[in-house]
Amino acid sequence: MGPSLRALLLLSFSALAAATDFQPGAKASGRSFLKRAHAEQKAASIIRRSLPAWLSPPRSHATRRRRSVELGENCKALQGYDAKLAGNTHSYIFNDLSGSVSLAWVGDGTGVILALTTFRVPFFMLRLGQSKLYRSEDYGKSFEDVTSLINNTFIRSEFGIAIGNSGKVILTGEVSGSYGSRIFVSHDFGRSFTPRDLAFVPMMQITYSPDDSNALLALSSSNELWLSEDFGNNWKKIHDMVCLVKWGRKNTIFFTANYNGSCNDRGMLELKRTTDYGKNIKTVASKIYSFGQGGRFLFASVMTGKGTLRMIHVSVDQGETWNMAQLPPVGHEQFYSILAANDEMVFMHVDEPGDTGFGTIYVSDDRGTVYSKSLERHLYTTTGADTDFTNATSLRGVFLTSVLAKDKSVHSVVSFDQGGEWVPLRKPAYSKCDATAGDPDKCSLHIHAAYSIAMKLNVPMLPLTEPNAVGLILAHGSVGDSMSMMEPDVYVSDDGGYTWIKALVGPHHYAILDSGGLIVAVEDRPNRPISEIKFSTDEGQCWGVYNFTKDPIYFTGLASEPGARSMNVSVWGYRDSLLSQYWISTTIDFKELLTRDCGEHDYVQWLAHSDDISDPDDGCMLGYKEKFLRLRKDSVCWNGRHYQVTTQPTLCQCTLDDFLCDFGYYRQENSSECVEQPDLKGKVLEFCLHGKEEQLQTSGYRKIPGDKCEGGKMPERKEIDLSVRCVSDLVAPEFQIVSRSSKSVAIVITVIVVMLLSVAAGVVFIKKYVCGGSVWNVPHRFLVHRYSVLQQHVEDNAADGMDDPLETNHTQNGKIEFHDDSDEDLLE
Ligand SMILES: *[C@@H]1O[C@H](CO)[C@@H](O)[C@H](O)[C@H]1NC(C)=O
Ligand SMILES: *[C@@H]1O[C@H](CO)[C@@H](O)[C@H](O)[C@H]1NC(C)=O
Ligand SMILES: *[C@@H]1O[C@H](CO)[C@@H](O)[C@H](O)[C@H]1NC(C)=O
Ligand SMILES: *[C@@H]1O[C@H](CO)[C@@H](O)[C@H](O)[C@H]1NC(C)=O
Ligand SMILES: *[C@@H]1O[C@H](CO)[C@@H](O)[C@H](O)[C@H]1NC(C)=O
Ligand SMILES: *[C@@H]1O[C@H](CO)[C@@H](O)[C@H](O)[C@H]1NC(C)=O
Repeated sequence: MGPSLRALLLLSFSALAAATDFQPGAKASGRSFLKRAHAEQKAASIIRRSLPAWLSPPRSHATRRRRSVELGENCKALQGYDAKLAGNTHSYIFNDLSGSVSLAWVGDGTGVILALTTFRVPFFMLRLGQSKLYRSEDYGKSFEDVTSLINNTFIRSEFGIAIGNSGKVILTGEVSGSYGSRIFVSHDFGRSFTPRDLAFVPMMQITYSPDDSNALLALSSSNELWLSEDFGNNWKKIHDMVCLVKWGRKNTIFFTANYNGSCNDRGMLELKRTTDYGKNIKTVASKIYSFGQGGRFLFASVMTGKGTLRMIHVSVDQGETWNMAQLPPVGHEQFYSILAANDEMVFMHVDEPGDTGFGTIYVSDDRGTVYSKSLERHLYTTTGADTDFTNATSLRGVFLTSVLAKDKSVHSVVSFDQGGEWVPLRKPAYSKCDATAGDPDKCSLHIHAAYSIAMKLNVPMLPLTEPNAVGLILAHGSVGDSMSMMEPDVYVSDDGGYTWIKALVGPHHYAILDSGGLIVAVEDRPNRPISEIKFSTDEGQCWGVYNFTKDPIYFTGLASEPGARSMNVSVWGYRDSLLSQYWISTTIDFKELLTRDCGEHDYVQWLAHSDDISDPDDGCMLGYKEKFLRLRKDSVCWNGRHYQVTTQPTLCQCTLDDFLCDFGYYRQENSSECVEQPDLKGKVLEFCLHGKEEQLQTSGYRKIPGDKCEGGKMPERKEIDLSVRCVSDLVAPEFQIVSRSSKSVAIVITVIVVMLLSVAAGVVFIKKYVCGGSVWNVPHRFLVHRYSVLQQHVEDNAADGMDDPLETNHTQNGKIEFHDDSDEDLLE
């Protein structure tokens, strides 16, 4: 194959590609090269847990069984269900020409869905809008028009519908011609709404305290921080000039503020905390660039006092005391990002200097201070904040992401041990390498995620996993040397990413139902109406097809209750004819497909992470192995709403690989032993723990966070005290003495994902709010579907694209796009 064709087929990195709205300030150039090189070298030598292994061949799984599955082969079991499904198919037509629909599930297992349609015509600065509210109590089979409950007020759909615990709902309205705004609150799952007038205009969605859903926070468009302790009845202003605010644990509020500067004065902000709803406010850190939370860790990026460099500081006691994280400092044009975090550890991305589009992933120890280098050349665009990093929540320790090779091609890698080692994904059985492969028999699977979507490839969905569907991963991918630009197919893994099968040809929307017992998919065919939904009861090996309508619709998305326990799925779309255009939602209840409850004999034991059953350590992952009871593939039965994942953990013996090297130690290449950092001898260290002295007593080893191994070969070492050598030249002297001062960095990963796709005459938006971080107790609550002929006119007429981020980001070519639309997501 000639080089030009190859280039065409490769999805290669381009700095321009991902440009979206969030440009973190002007690019500063002219940083001192010397300083940077120095910092990197330091990071590389102190921080080492394992070699970045993305180029090494995948482990062999010699004894792993192979499924002999080709599409359509031996799949007769799923035929003849049409009549049963037809009796359980319910369509609802919304006589409504609105441009967008937002959906929210109110409460788990209640079947209550709110659908908000909005229609907005911006004429220069004047906005005319109209909203309608619909409510369903039967998982979407029928809706009632309840617009009168909100008195026809225009609802700001870009804020979505804020769902709290125990049936609480907030809608944010827009009142024209007055300073202030109106919200509608409900305590009873949206059965009734009460209007509340606010003395300010919210700049973002009102947020619930995770620990008390009566406590609400709002940031106003003039940067005032407002708080209500009684679910919106009374509001008080607690601070001015607030730049960013987040709820912490136990009703703590963290925010950055800058009294007499502006929020653009990055690096000059103060991080403040209140634990009593604003009565007492304490400054816990200053010279702050940004802050973020992940698990029990609070991070802040703090200016070092040396040029524009800043560093991450971390606190595990809500900002009382801080330690400097052992991570390289970054300059103005770089960023830090918390990719994933729990109470035990954090994955942190540190951007490379220059506009490279990649950086390095570090994994932390249990204190959040010592970091091991996990993956180099990790793809993460500076401009678009797009990363493919995915926590595969269906199996402990499994993470997927992409790396950028030197030739700018993009490659998928997977880690099965929480970032210890990264390898390419195995080529699915029976699949052929595509034209990107040099050798037609040697290649790997590449998974399309956020970056491909930003590149406007036809990838309708991100990879999908659910904690209660053990081992299951659904994703779009291609098979070759590197990621391909060609139309992807849908691949499924049933063992947490070790092996894959090609499940569906071409791009699809997919959903997991009944804890993985049922998967449904609808083909994504832009501009062509569809009438079919596909379903599988054996984790994607065999698929049945059901024609859910005689009159095909323009499909916009699948909607099912978050948590993957439902058996009801709604296919959303619209019909478009000369005379009329309307939304239609068709809900299919699969209860008669899976008629009986699963019994004991329907489940089999499965050892996770197993590749060689003759090895006594087979299946050990972070110090323990887990046997799960999983549904047999050939069992067609109902797991049920109350299905619980059953697992039997067994502890494993420790090896040196269960430890990471502590502060001041490192691993030599190809060795598991931690040896003392040579530059500790007689030299001073630049990183330092500011905490208590005992923290510097170390044997050089520290258990990997979450590792539960016992016994075995424990490293025997005398503890030494490193504190005498602890001097830093990156921190101003006053910081060293006052160890309780502050610093921090980092940011919370994408909270909101927006998908846009243009269909037929209009533009369709699907907006999915994925609340990240453990702070939010109500994740995955919304889906927004949008389409409108009018929006195209709007685009044509709009003088300057106007101010609404959603409406200035239409895709031009019928592709789908994800982007963050919250400034909280900025990673700096
Ligand atoms: C609904 O709005 C109209 C006009 O804005 C107002 O006169 C009326 O009182 C409102 N009704 C309720 C129940 O808020
Ligand atoms: C900024 O605020 C501080 C108090 O926070 C005050 O002492 C100082 O004079 C102010 N500076 C300006 C320029 O207003
Ligand atoms: C990954 O997801 C699992 C399941 O939701 C969760 O338990 C785990 O803490 C996550 N890991 C990280 C590092 O966020
Ligand atoms: C579904 O409907 C399409 C036309 O709308 C038809 O071509 C196809 O054969 C039908 N499939 C089944 C399984 O009935
Ligand atoms: C599907 O919807 C019906 C109501 O229409 C509800 O009774 C049933 O519980 C739902 N099934 C599941 C598994 O949620
Ligand atoms: C480490 O192992 C790799 C592969 O086995 C080998 O190529 C390399 O030379 C080794 N490095 C050292 C320092 O032994």
